Amino acid sequence: MNNIKNSHIAGIGYYVPDRVIDNNYFTKYMDTSDQWIRERTGIHERRFISNDEGPSDLAIPAIKMALESASMSKDDIDFIIFSTSTPDYYIPGSGCLVQEKMKFKNIGALDIRCQCSGFIYGLSIADQYIKAGTYSNILVVTSEVQSTAMDLSNNGRDTSIIFADGAAATIITSAKSDNEGLLSTHLHSEGKYAKELWVEAPSSKQNPRLDNKILNDKKHFLHMNGKEVFKHAIKRFPEVIIEGLVHNNLTVNDIDILIPHQANIRISKMVQKKLGLKDEQVISNIHKYGNTTSASIPIALYETIKNKKIKKGDILALAAFGSGFSWGSAIIKW
Ligand SMILES: CC(C)(COP(=O)(O)OP(=O)(O)OC[C@H]1O[C@@H](n2cnc3c(N)ncnc32)[C@H](O)[C@@H]1OP(=O)(O)O)[C@@H](O)C(=O)NCCC(=O)NCCS
Repeated sequence: MNNIKNSHIAGIGYYVPDRVIDNNYFTKYMDTSDQWIRERTGIHERRFISNDEGPSDLAIPAIKMALESASMSKDDIDFIIFSTSTPDYYIPGSGCLVQEKMKFKNIGALDIRCQCSGFIYGLSIADQYIKAGTYSNILVVTSEVQSTAMDLSNNGRDTSIIFADGAAATIITSAKSDNEGLLSTHLHSEGKYAKELWVEAPSSKQNPRLDNKILNDKKHFLHMNGKEVFKHAIKRFPEVIIEGLVHNNLTVNDIDILIPHQANIRISKMVQKKLGLKDEQVISNIHKYGNTTSASIPIALYETIKNKKIKKGDILALAAFGSGFSWGSAIIKW
């Protein structure tokens, strides 16, 4: 057991579509305002796909960037974990599409659907494979196209202004020592709140899975009970971060950087306050990208690394909360 090394992030990349959607875009379709959106969410703009791009397409530039940053070639990758809550198709998974688009070897491709917590779940799976020695270089892709499930009317004004499109890719390998890298992950779910943030249809429970009634009832759009999500998020974020710290005999004072899932700036601020962290310790880029679901943490991580805000040996806390409800944290020694 002594030989088991932690996993770590050896490479990272991201991609967002070129099409910038500012808050004024929504005023054409619904009663809202730039000021309301900025004040209630912290979002100034976000990216939407232009046409016919799926999560497997957004993933490709991010994967290429991650390979370059890890100084690896595509043939070095021996497993794909693809996190998306908005898959290109029901069948097959987007991981298989990426295998073909990247011309990877015939490696395994595992799709996971853990919504906004997808990156933390993906990391935890990669970590176990690395620790077990099953695979050496695992690609964790997080890619989301939310803009095609937005109700651009007053009924959908709480969700359409928040969610957005984007992708990230990380390459997980074995750390050099067991005193660095991913120290632990902590995962949770509570399905009794499934309907508080969901897309009801197309559903395999309905026959046919999609018809005009479903479309007229707008069941194919993302629906959210914002207040309920908010209430649970501000409880679960601090709770699961503390759980991760305690597991590693650390305290809040040991956190150098917190990268929360970019759900809403007010959620991040409340978590920051509860934990007593300073502004510069809590990463936020929601003003530029909105909520990109499972891609949000690794996009923020990429930017934090690029801005040279992380030093070797720093303790990073990553934490997510989202639909399911599902939530989780990862504690990393950089
Ligand atoms: C959606 C959210 C921004 C709404 O903000 P809020 O302060 O809770 O607003 P409320 O839900 O109290 O709604 C206040 C009013 O604003 C309205 N409103 C909602 N969206 C609006 C918009 N885009 N523009 C203007 N008004 C809006 C509501 O309809 C409501 O009107 P009413 O009082 O006439 O019913 C907020 O609940 C939120 O961020 N929740 C968490 C969402 C989240 O993080 N989701 C992702 C989790 S992964």
